Amino acid sequence: MADYEGAVTGLIPCSVVLLTAADGDRRDAMTATTVFVAEEPPVLTMSVAKHILMHDLIETSREFVVNLASSEQASLAKKLGATHGRDVDKFAEFSLVSRPAAVVRAPILEGSFASLECQVIDSFSVDSYSVYHARVVAHEFDASREALVWEQGRYYPVREPLG
Ligand SMILES: Cc1cc2nc3c(=O)[nH]c(=O)nc-3n(C[C@H](O)[C@H](O)[C@H](O)COP(=O)(O)O)c2cc1C
Repeated sequence: MADYEGAVTGLIPCSVVLLTAADGDRRDAMTATTVFVAEEPPVLTMSVAKHILMHDLIETSREFVVNLASSEQASLAKKLGATHGRDVDKFAEFSLVSRPAAVVRAPILEGSFASLECQVIDSFSVDSYSVYHARVVAHEFDASREALVWEQGRYYPVREPLG
């Protein structure tokens, strides 16, 4: 929390994504954020640090699943954002329950608020990150769950509408 209080990136409330990607036998899951770029057909953007396993997997597969975290997944989001797939198989370490997606090779994480299957349409470099624009080619969501928002290092459930 203290690290993010007042920090520029902490001031922007953002979606909480449990991003998954796979390439052959290799797979990874990490915490990230996304925003949409276009509504119909839906396109979104992700940025991924170049030095991490997730980056390798997206560069080779050009696919991923944006699993939007549910309020039950806040502690999982913390874990997936604090560990590295190069050091540990997070699926085994955190007993992740996953299943095949409909179109892409990356897995869907059970318990998510929504899962958006994405194919990369273009990418560019910004400092130590690659920024991806991706088209959503299939999706599902669980209307019985709440989404999560991250702000200043803390996770909040999306509950009562104000407008
Ligand atoms: C709320 C939150 C959002 C994050 N968003 C991103 C992001 O958009 N891109 C990124 O590269 N890392 C992001 N991170 C950091 C990664 O989750 C973290 O570096 C993770 O350990 C990388 O996993 P990997 O090494 O297995 O790929 C975020 C972390 C948190 C807690």
